[in-house]
Amino acid sequence: MKTENTVWHEQHVSKQQRSAQKKQKPCVLWYTGLSGSGKSTIANAVDELLYRMGQHTYVLDGDNVRHGLNGDLGFSDEDRIENIRRIGQVAKLFVDSGLIVTTAFISPFRADRAMARELLDDGEFIEVFIDTPIEVCEQRDPKGLYKKARAGEIKEFTGITSEYEPPEQADIHVKTDELTIEQCAQQVVDYLITHGYVGGKAASNEL
Ligand code: ADX
Repeated sequence: MKTENTVWHEQHVSKQQRSAQKKQKPCVLWYTGLSGSGKSTIANAVDELLYRMGQHTYVLDGDNVRHGLNGDLGFSDEDRIENIRRIGQVAKLFVDSGLIVTTAFISPFRADRAMARELLDDGEFIEVFIDTPIEVCEQRDPKGLYKKARAGEIKEFTGITSEYEPPEQADIHVKTDELTIEQCAQQVVDYLITHGYVGGKAASNEL
């Protein structure tokens, strides 16, 4: 920390009060997976379902956040670590505001995902592994990036010239090559309902 002379100021409205007002248990849905695995697609499908259910949500997406807040970062290991550190902190603020926040970043390193989990209270960090074999991602290649990476035009490309460490025990394991987008999205929403983040207890304010 470079700021020595700052003092934490307690907020008057608590996270519990904000959650109760929104009738939900705030959390981060932390998506991880290769480029082209379907993180953003599934995350947005889930977000739409939650919105229709009346939940209060927001999506932080890698490609978008890299245009603004993290526009100064590239794809070296060091920059990816900083990318995820910042997103972890931002996600924590969103949870504090009572929202169900989605982060859709490759977040390739286990240690960084663990660090983001550490920032939050128990049960607030839900790791969603969008598990799509690299062959499938490469075949889909929605942005033409795998082709460029194979041609040597992009250095340090995840899964090819930069490492991806899959989760060992994700909270939700989504196999996109076996399910439709709708089924994948429903799997995530079902988890939130079953574990009391939305509906039932959450809706009746007994959080
Ligand atoms: S992360 O590794 O730091 O978590 P992040 O999710 O923010 O990555 O950004 C990944 C997106 O940036 C990819 O979906 C892709 O569109 C784009 N991208 C550009 N260059 C690279 C690269 N070298 N490796 C991976 N993705 C890249």
